[in-house]
Amino acid sequence: MEHVHRTPLGIGDRLPQLEVHTTHGKIVLPTDYEGRWFMLFSHPGDFTPVCTTEFVSFAKNQAAFQQLNCELIGLSIDTVFAHMKWIEWIQSHLGVSITFPIIADELGVVARRLGMIPQEGATRTVRSVFIVDPSGSIRLILTYPSEVGRNTNELLRVLKGLQTADTYRIATPANWPNNELIGDRVILPPANTVMKARERLEQAAANQFECLDWWFCYQEIPNK
Ligand code: BEZ
Repeated sequence: MEHVHRTPLGIGDRLPQLEVHTTHGKIVLPTDYEGRWFMLFSHPGDFTPVCTTEFVSFAKNQAAFQQLNCELIGLSIDTVFAHMKWIEWIQSHLGVSITFPIIADELGVVARRLGMIPQEGATRTVRSVFIVDPSGSIRLILTYPSEVGRNTNELLRVLKGLQTADTYRIATPANWPNNELIGDRVILPPANTVMKARERLEQAAANQFECLDWWFCYQEIPNK
């Protein structure tokens, strides 16, 4: 098979146009999701235990994602029929409905394009996550190994962080909203001129926000 070497996708790139076959029929990404966020995640395979725990957790948290205007889309190198039988099993044995679409990427075309298969010749996807914003731009790429299940709370946290950053033009600290230094407060973009640095310290002195120094200023989220 001919191998096409492309530059790997990165944060800020537009997700390439992908026509995919899913348990809900044909979907065109990112076009069909314009105006909504979506989280596209791969798993190594249907009928595997760690993936089952992840699917149950994603399903139980789907409403929380949707409250943030974010839809879920799964993917593995399996057939639509395998996906259907697996989600039937999850429903009948665990009582959990999987209602998000799952891409059947039987030939691994989508997975290879998105870098979800780690080595040349490997036949399974690892646990990749792409968060894509309402304009189709990739905002997060995560790659987890097969042997460690993902943390749904962290995926919700980073989605909220991205949306908060977009809304207020700020950045969120480590472990936000439970940061060890500044709690749930958020960080102003660093001053990038001498004048702005001076202004920051003047604004901090006037109690507009707080600063540890001119390059480290933070504030409550406005209108919280
Ligand atoms: C699992 O989902 O249980 C799994 C899949 C691939 C490798 C290891 C574990």
